[in-house]
Amino acid sequence: MGVTLSETVPLVPLPRHVTLAGPGRFRLGARPRVGVPSAELLGLGRVVAELLATAPGVEPVVVVGADAELRLVLSGETPAAPADLLDRPAGYEAYELETGESGATVTAATAEGLFRGATTFAQSLDQDGTAPAMRVSDAPALPWRGLSLDVVRRFFPVDQVKRVVDLLARYKFNVLHLHLTDSQAWRLEIDGRPRLTDPACWPGGEGSRNGTGRQHYTRDDFREITAYAAARFVTVVPEIDLPGHSHAVVTAYPELAGQAVHPLLAFLDPRAAAGFVEEVLGQVAELTPGPYLHVGGDEAFGMPHEQYAEFTAMSLRVARATGKRAVAWQEAARSGALTPQDLAQWWVGADHVFDAEELRGRTPAEYHPLIDIAAASFELAPGDLPKALASGVPVLASTSSTLYLDRQYAEDSLLPAQSERRGRVGMASYAPRTCRELFDWHPGELKEFGGAAPAGVEAAIWCESVADFDDLAFLLLPRLPAIAEKAWTQQVTGWADHRARVRGHAAAWERLGWGGYYRSAEVF
Ligand code: ACM
Repeated sequence: MGVTLSETVPLVPLPRHVTLAGPGRFRLGARPRVGVPSAELLGLGRVVAELLATAPGVEPVVVVGADAELRLVLSGETPAAPADLLDRPAGYEAYELETGESGATVTAATAEGLFRGATTFAQSLDQDGTAPAMRVSDAPALPWRGLSLDVVRRFFPVDQVKRVVDLLARYKFNVLHLHLTDSQAWRLEIDGRPRLTDPACWPGGEGSRNGTGRQHYTRDDFREITAYAAARFVTVVPEIDLPGHSHAVVTAYPELAGQAVHPLLAFLDPRAAAGFVEEVLGQVAELTPGPYLHVGGDEAFGMPHEQYAEFTAMSLRVARATGKRAVAWQEAARSGALTPQDLAQWWVGADHVFDAEELRGRTPAEYHPLIDIAAASFELAPGDLPKALASGVPVLASTSSTLYLDRQYAEDSLLPAQSERRGRVGMASYAPRTCRELFDWHPGELKEFGGAAPAGVEAAIWCESVADFDDLAFLLLPRLPAIAEKAWTQQVTGWADHRARVRGHAAAWERLGWGGYYRSAEVF
């Protein structure tokens, strides 16, 4: 059997059309020029240049004009750029790429399309800096392609978040959802509320520090992250998780607390915390250039329904009043307050596992009533998505069974040294699954949506078991690129073909600081 197209050009996510255009190859050289159409797009040229710095000694330069090895060309009428990803016209991110022996040209109607095309070109370069002559024509299936990163259970400093952005951009993701607050900590500076970000005021106290540095993002840190992401066409969606997951808030400011049955099930009171919600969401909205504000809404275990409904209606109203589009986890549908102007995030699919018996078996008896309360909430979960769809709110697919990446690997590693990590990293209560098993779904075929596609796909990585950046790499790779393919690629792709392409990416992961990736025997 000959070498397949997928092995020759390991593109992930797979573009809509790829054809090889003869035997010739383009050689990048040590000082390749990236040509942008105008001085206004020099910033785009610089981030594209980063993509091409594929080997030590390769130093791309950015020029204005077409006298370049990689030419970025705007064509046709550039459409207006609505901030909301869901409002973008068809073709907004589409591009054509043509590579010949003398160079490559990306053509698109928008800077974003040019960037998407440049990521495809960068993936087509082999380790020697040569690329096959080829033609690519491409456009995404879904307008929202995201990753939710839990920076609470593990705090990632700004430089590490930037590395995550780099990875997302290379796989054509366009959303980084930052889960900034939870029961253990609060990770974003809020003016006038210093106790929120002081580890001494968190439930775990000083012992909950991750390393010796600052334990939260200052306002300037947050601005730096959002600007870095925006330059790579990634929109940051900040999440302030309300009214549950609030143990840290109520430890710092007990006057905001509702009457909880147990400190571990802390929630905010809709009346006592109303001013706090306005204060916090107002500041976060002002700091955030993107059009979204995530207000949480998940797992407010033990909160009386009337109070939950009142709180959620209030937090959605406050978020909308900032001018942002409110995003909330699926439970918010129980409030009856979601509207088509909001966004809901579906995470408890039919095969979500909450095994109360199993949990009781490994938890001291004093916690069993809490497990019963959580179980009662999960019993309501099957009604959430139908309620959300009936309200007309667009829904993102984040089902835990396929899109939560804090799951242990079921297949072996080719590196025996990874076996300790394999047993330690990933949520212990999830059944381990292989990369191949996780590949077996498609957003266009979700029966729950009755044949329509979700508004987007968002993976999530929760970090209870993540001790450092290499643990993060271990859980994200090689699985994250498969999710990129689900969200971007219009046609249904098969595992064998995907595997043949993704295995060609390991050298790039090493180079980019993601060397902790899992050496899945099923992939490599
Ligand atoms: C969630 O996993 N609690 C959204």
